[in-house]
Amino acid sequence: MSPQVSGGKVAIHFEGEPGDTRTVTYADLQEQVNKAANVLTDLGVRAGDRVAIYLPMIPEAAISMLACARIGAVHSVVFGGFSAEALRSRIDDAEAKLVITADGGYRRGSPAVLKPAVDEAVAQCPSVDNVLVVRRTGQEVAWTDKDLWWHETVDAASPDHSAEAFDSEHPLFILYTSGTTGKPKGILHTTGGYLTQTAYTHYNVFDLKDGDVYWCTADVGWVTGHSYIVYGPLANGATQVMYEGTPDTPHKGRWWEIVQKYGVSLLYTAPTAIRTFMKWGNDIPAQFDLSSLRLLGSVGEPINPEAWIWYRDHIGGGDVPIVDTWWQTETGAMMISPLPGVTACKPGSAMRPLPGISADVVDDMGEPVGPGGGGYLVLSKPWPAMLRGIWGDDQRYKDTYWLRWPQYYFAGDGAKYDQDGAIWLLGRVDDVMNVSGHRISTTEVESALVSHPLVAEAAVVGATDEMTGQGIVAFVILRSDMQAGDDAVAQLRQHVSQEIGPIAKPRQIMLVAELPKTRSGKIMRRLLRDVAEHRSLGDVTTLADPAVMNLISEGLSHGDD
Ligand code: WTA
Repeated sequence: MSPQVSGGKVAIHFEGEPGDTRTVTYADLQEQVNKAANVLTDLGVRAGDRVAIYLPMIPEAAISMLACARIGAVHSVVFGGFSAEALRSRIDDAEAKLVITADGGYRRGSPAVLKPAVDEAVAQCPSVDNVLVVRRTGQEVAWTDKDLWWHETVDAASPDHSAEAFDSEHPLFILYTSGTTGKPKGILHTTGGYLTQTAYTHYNVFDLKDGDVYWCTADVGWVTGHSYIVYGPLANGATQVMYEGTPDTPHKGRWWEIVQKYGVSLLYTAPTAIRTFMKWGNDIPAQFDLSSLRLLGSVGEPINPEAWIWYRDHIGGGDVPIVDTWWQTETGAMMISPLPGVTACKPGSAMRPLPGISADVVDDMGEPVGPGGGGYLVLSKPWPAMLRGIWGDDQRYKDTYWLRWPQYYFAGDGAKYDQDGAIWLLGRVDDVMNVSGHRISTTEVESALVSHPLVAEAAVVGATDEMTGQGIVAFVILRSDMQAGDDAVAQLRQHVSQEIGPIAKPRQIMLVAELPKTRSGKIMRRLLRDVAEHRSLGDVTTLADPAVMNLISEGLSHGDD
């Protein structure tokens, strides 16, 4: 660890979706970060101030994050696929002073816009003094007196900047993630422990060597991008690929073409992507030379054994190690994962806690279940990259993670131990859905739905989906006093997309007359999940009106869209 990296070593091989490329060496990166740090300081950003970053997957995303870290400002990266409203609520909650964005980015073969969403959000956020705009696509953008071009300010700034020293507990970033209520929570991470664990795990779990070319396909808007594109790999002096676009643009072999082109040796991606490639067919990766790959990683959701084996055979040539890494936005870095060359793997299991990490599987009473048992995953000792709280909401931090069993961190995941003591993750046990590796809460989607004038009531569940892990299924009661057109379902899906972002669009919306409730008025999601997954209904005796379920099941056969 703490490598001696020469300035000439490539930090980032950037590949834009249209095929444009940039090579950023460590010396280039330092110069860019210094310049950006000078601009941030000139704009009045000080240690402890918050900066929102809403960018496509371009080097300026990493540069902006590091420039904040360099001056002790706290970044809050918001995934570029989130809507103006989602951006507004995040800027507002953190009271960000500056927003860094771009005119747009390339997605699915054409330029997509980002700046209009920022304009809409910033108009309602009095905390924001300035907006720094990277020119990526050259599209026409509206301009306000808060806006500054990156190329006119950062490019012209001095490359000299002295990094300031901060306490190891100085806040590094806030990253919003979905919890069990409608309002996303701002997970707070600090500097020293976070960097220690991201660098340590990136080095050991990927068995990093000097000549490696590493590629993590996540977006910097998620924690995987923070820890395993920006902080871990760059702290270790790794060379990595950063790709802007989608896997099927301009053809379905784009990722494998990139692996071949840059000689990628370490690849880190999500099970949803692997399942998508399986569907597209073995002949696509077979057209490319993937022999440079020597280790594959998986993250974000449980990986089914079929996908694990396909990944190893069709991408890894049959004999590479696979590391299935379990962790969360809250844990900051990997917690449970095999170590290549050390752990014998079982397809579908994340195996054991990494050295220094203490995890356990416990029952309802908080008692360890032991080999062969199933229950809840808990973390039983603190760890370096542990979240330090929820931004502005200490009570929610206590309630979410420490209320159930005060001696354990409650992860929110179900898990089982097999007879050999390997851990198998079974998905969330709370109201958080995992759709293509993205965390979305049922209540967040419900709130978005009921904010539409047509909707009286809504209940949302995550239904098992072969491709995306879970799919969002909504049950909606329309208001009787409103005239709903035939396109009500389409309107509502669009509305959720506007309120949160396209990733939260329900796969299916069913218009129903009633929702199944207990006598105390609680919606019985378990029954709705049974309906959404086409299962026979479980126990309905606690329902206030058991006949409701017949109505809903009938509705399902008509409600598919
Ligand atoms: C799930 C992503 C099974 C889990 C890094 C967790 C996984 C949530 C795995 C965190 C894995 C992540 N196997 N499930 N290897 N990795 N998860 O905060 O449910 O976006 O609680 O962090 O993803 O999602 P988050």
